Amino acid sequence: MSANEYIQRLFGAEDEVLQAVRQSIIDREMPTISVSPEVGTYLTMLVKMSGAQSVLEIGALGGYSGICLARGMSEDGKLTSLELEVEYAQLAHQNLIGAGFGGRVIYRVGEALVSLQQLEAEGEKFDLFFIDADKGNYVNYFEWALKLANPGALILADNVLWGGRVYDQENQEESTQMLRAFNEKIASDDRVESMLLPIGDGLSVSRVK
Ligand SMILES: C[S@@+](CC[C@H](N)C(=O)[O-])C[C@H]1O[C@@H](n2cnc3c(N)ncnc32)[C@H](O)[C@@H]1O
Repeated sequence: MSANEYIQRLFGAEDEVLQAVRQSIIDREMPTISVSPEVGTYLTMLVKMSGAQSVLEIGALGGYSGICLARGMSEDGKLTSLELEVEYAQLAHQNLIGAGFGGRVIYRVGEALVSLQQLEAEGEKFDLFFIDADKGNYVNYFEWALKLANPGALILADNVLWGGRVYDQENQEESTQMLRAFNEKIASDDRVESMLLPIGDGLSVSRVK
């Protein structure tokens, strides 16, 4: 058994709500790339521990991570979720409503980089960011998160181990190189303090100074 399997066995129990979300994604033949259960559990904890009230998610898919983030917020918390595909955003919204968070989430459909510009123009600020969309834009999303961050905000990103490819020096695929660049950036950027946790497919946690 790997460390990851051990962790998932102990800390990755999914309740019926999250199981139903995974099933709804399978039923619609959408990609089965939601966060792993243990990352979902940890997202809820990080929102709770940080006391984040305004959360921005980049990449909604079917709402699995959205529910995990919303579960950590207090009743007046607000989740803004950016998603490219209208059908995905609709399913995510349906699933958030089913989980009891319909009134606390707003979906913005389209290219996340465009939505981020709009959020800046509207003067929106956030306490916690969860980056989980196209890997080639992780560095751009990180820079946007810094612009939209309240002091002390957390910036989280999923898939930063990329199935182990980031530390396989023979792997030079573009997506791998982009994620390597992201990891190197958060490790050395003086504006944040960061750590990479080897849970799921790798979760990075950066705290804005
Ligand atoms: C890994 S999935 C998100 C999974 C979700 N965070 C979860 O764990 O439940 C990535 C999502 O990002 C969306 N996406 C990809 N490129 C995007 C872009 N340029 N702008 C906005 N969303 C994008 C995809 O449509 C997909 O739904």
